[in-house]
Amino acid sequence: MSQLKPISHLDSVLPSTPGKFKSEKSPSYIHRLRFHTSISKLTLWSSFFLAFILIYYLCSSPSPSHSPRRALGVSWGGKEWERRVTRSTQKHSKSGLTVLVTGAAGFVGTHVSIALKRRGDAVLGLDNFNDYYDTGLKRDRQKLLERTGIFVVEGDINNTLLISKLFEVVPFTHVMHLAAQAGVRYAMQNPGSYIHSNIAGFVNLLEVCKAANPQPAIVWASSSSVYGLNSKVPFSERDRTDQPASLYAATKKAGEEIAHTYNHIYGLSITGLRFFTVYGPWGRPDMAYFFFTKNILKRKTISIFEAPNHGTVARDFTYIDDIVKGCLAALDTAKKSTGTGGKKKGNAQFRIFNLGNTSPVPVTQLVRILEKLLKVKAKKKILSMPRNGDVTFTHANISLAYRELGYKPSTDLETGLKKFVRWYLNYYPDAKRNSW
Ligand SMILES: *[C@@H]1O[C@H](CO)[C@@H](O)[C@H](O)[C@H]1NC(C)=O
Ligand SMILES: *[C@@H]1O[C@H](CO)[C@@H](O)[C@H](O)[C@H]1NC(C)=O
Repeated sequence: MSQLKPISHLDSVLPSTPGKFKSEKSPSYIHRLRFHTSISKLTLWSSFFLAFILIYYLCSSPSPSHSPRRALGVSWGGKEWERRVTRSTQKHSKSGLTVLVTGAAGFVGTHVSIALKRRGDAVLGLDNFNDYYDTGLKRDRQKLLERTGIFVVEGDINNTLLISKLFEVVPFTHVMHLAAQAGVRYAMQNPGSYIHSNIAGFVNLLEVCKAANPQPAIVWASSSSVYGLNSKVPFSERDRTDQPASLYAATKKAGEEIAHTYNHIYGLSITGLRFFTVYGPWGRPDMAYFFFTKNILKRKTISIFEAPNHGTVARDFTYIDDIVKGCLAALDTAKKSTGTGGKKKGNAQFRIFNLGNTSPVPVTQLVRILEKLLKVKAKKKILSMPRNGDVTFTHANISLAYRELGYKPSTDLETGLKKFVRWYLNYYPDAKRNSW
């Protein structure tokens, strides 16, 4: 995890260093030196300094670990890089937004970035391309973004130098913060990754936003998982969210509290969106609808969880296009942040919205729809749900989002899955061959 810092640090320091050294070695400076030994001393110390950086870099170089941050090959900085950043954020209309989308090569990030770009907003993507799931899929999403004219900066949200640099180069009006360590069960394997992205990374981003002039408005992805063990349905924004059932949920809940703090102290305008089981084309392979599709096509047995006492496990599946509309509406209705120079000038907007479909579907029904669309009978195994983070039921009350954002999801699960399956068979043509 830590190996990234020195790499990015070096990359960002090197382009600016020659200028710095030149001024120190300029003739006027040298004339002021009384003894030639001073020059050699300077050289000696410079060598020590460079050697120190080199040793630090080597010692903290990639170690084999399960961290999703290994082998990222993150690089940024330099003239060409800056040119691409600037070009990506060229505005086509005066009224358009200038948006930094974090997690841009992610599922929701890709769709939101493209939707913003297509309607004329200026977009810059940021993604660390970690290997939590197939990076090939992320790279293909990146190609899609690049074809739309969106440059995706490779880097980590916990990198202060990088995020500050981005704000130096581009006067972002909005940040769409979608970068996060996702997944509920993965937290047992790699808890640190949740802290790194969802807590430390988020705080770093907010720190830079708070210091920016002008401050951007922030819209970010929280999660329906903050409702945790709640049994009162539908879940409403005012319900308690203090019983998370997973570390993932706990870090998202912490994010909501941290967001409130930055809003309260620094006047940042912040909107949190609690997404409910988002699915669709270019989706995440770690989600049930995705790996069910894969395994059904491979004639592999799929495990379906049931709640205690043979209860139903159901999800409020929400189609990606509906989520995108909600995200854009949140950006469009976001008020300006009120702070300057890191100081609050007045109260700023603070909002939290559920973005769901408000129609929960049992997982068994999900499987039936997939069997129909794939024309393959699934081999099923019913298991009782392990107590490792998943909740049995989610159902969003979306009346607040409807009132404030005009949010009105319009895609039912069958329609959405049809689009997903069409994409899947097209993207993985080999899967199709096996199925017929
Ligand atoms: C995030 O970055 C800060 C500052 O560079 C560093 O001290 C911290 O260890 C990082 N946090 C995590 C969890 O990686
Ligand atoms: C949904 O939430 C609103 C507040 O946003 C509340 O007035 C309404 O009663 C809730 N509906 C249900 C069915 O709980």
